[in-house]
Amino acid sequence: MNNIEWKKEYELGVEEIDNQHKKLVGIVNEFLEAQANHSEEKVIGPVIKELVDYTKVHFESEELHMKKHRYPLLIQHKQEHKALIARIVKILKDLGSGNRDVADDIFQLLKNWLLNHILDKDRQYGNFLKNGKV
Ligand SMILES: [Fe+2]
Repeated sequence: MNNIEWKKEYELGVEEIDNQHKKLVGIVNEFLEAQANHSEEKVIGPVIKELVDYTKVHFESEELHMKKHRYPLLIQHKQEHKALIARIVKILKDLGSGNRDVADDIFQLLKNWLLNHILDKDRQYGNFLKNGKV
């Protein structure tokens, strides 16, 4: 399974958010490694919990940053965050019911989605901060 490699082009230019994104990708990679090593539930469970917890913390701080800068697309962005969280929670449930295969598929989707979110929607915000318009 391929890990996500952090690239300079993923950066928005907001240090706080960029650092959080890097950490998030790090946790996703931890999960992918645990999966690739066929780690036991007791190893994978805490990694997913960390992912859920940290994603929530990160989204909250991102939204706060956006609110402070009066980002016009804040409501849409919040909805994306909500949907992403719902997706991670579903993975947790699947894992809880022992459905590892399904969780693996969903996680691949999530990995891509998370990266797309950072590359597309979060970048839009970076551009807004730079240019003062959406
Ligand atoms: Fe975001």
